[in-house]
Amino acid sequence: MTEKRKKLGFIGGGQMGEALIKGVLAAGLYRSAELVVAEPSEPRRQLLADRYDVPVCQQSGPLWAGCDVLVLAVKPQVMGTVLAQAGPLAGERRQLLISIAAGVSTAFIEEALAPRSVPVVRVMPNTPALVLAGASALCPGRAAGEEDLKLAEGIFAAVGKTVILPETAMDAVTGLSGSGPAYVFTFLESLIDAGVKVGLSREVAAVLARQTIAGSLQLVEESRQSPAELRAMVTSPGGTTIAGLHALERGAFRALIMDAVEAATRRSRELGSN
Ligand SMILES: NC(=O)c1ccc[n+]([C@@H]2O[C@H](COP(=O)([O-])OP(=O)(O)OC[C@H]3O[C@@H](n4cnc5c(N)ncnc54)[C@H](OP(=O)(O)O)[C@@H]3O)[C@@H](O)[C@H]2O)c1
Repeated sequence: MTEKRKKLGFIGGGQMGEALIKGVLAAGLYRSAELVVAEPSEPRRQLLADRYDVPVCQQSGPLWAGCDVLVLAVKPQVMGTVLAQAGPLAGERRQLLISIAAGVSTAFIEEALAPRSVPVVRVMPNTPALVLAGASALCPGRAAGEEDLKLAEGIFAAVGKTVILPETAMDAVTGLSGSGPAYVFTFLESLIDAGVKVGLSREVAAVLARQTIAGSLQLVEESRQSPAELRAMVTSPGGTTIAGLHALERGAFRALIMDAVEAATRRSRELGSN
């Protein structure tokens, strides 16, 4: 069995679990029969089996017994129960655990399974992973080695971009890319409302605002110029754009964004310490 052909189990087949299943299948990293999903909800099991042809089961026991890599894709508040359910099965074989639960530290998982030493990789993905355009940060726990990290990175690379960081950076990642899509959606909504304010229909404003955000990002990616350079390019002396930018600066737009990321980072730290 080559490394990429290790049996991959998902404990939790919700939104994120499904995104990862879709990604690893689309990328050809795994075949359906090499995956298995433990999911308590019967309609979710049915949907995953129908949509992706993956084996499903109600309890996680068979996954702890039979998988080389396990993705823990449950809500943070049920993580303790899930690890307790692992019982003596966890750590019986060498098994990599990948947790995506927000705010759950690698130490929490390691301690729940002690004295067995289990490699853990913690990941903070974001919702665009649902359309294979996510941003994920990964960090290794105490027993995870280079190979474990590489394997986990391959899975998240199938649903977007990845970075590897120390665990101390995970709250900042949550504040920036974890919560980030909500900031962008709010900006998009604001642009649409602004279009309506200056007399455009909501439909037209929505088309223009969405394409403006998507197109601007594409320009950043393809031109390889910095956002500051691209902004200067469209800001002619005494023109319309500098008038708009002046209003943004007067409203402390940048400071507000920094405050938002800082507040979310702080909240992530608070939740994690509970
Ligand atoms: N969605 C995001 O943007 C995002 C971003 C970063 C991190 N995360 C993290 O990803 C994790 C999953 O989030 P999600 O959005 O995918 O949540 P979700 O849609 O609620 O999925 C969690 C799934 O786990 C199932 N489950 C509950 N207890 C279980 C058990 N003992 N064994 C197996 N499965 C069990 C749930 O079933 P029931 O509904 O029947 O309880 C549910 O289908 C969370 O920890 C979250 O912090 C999510």
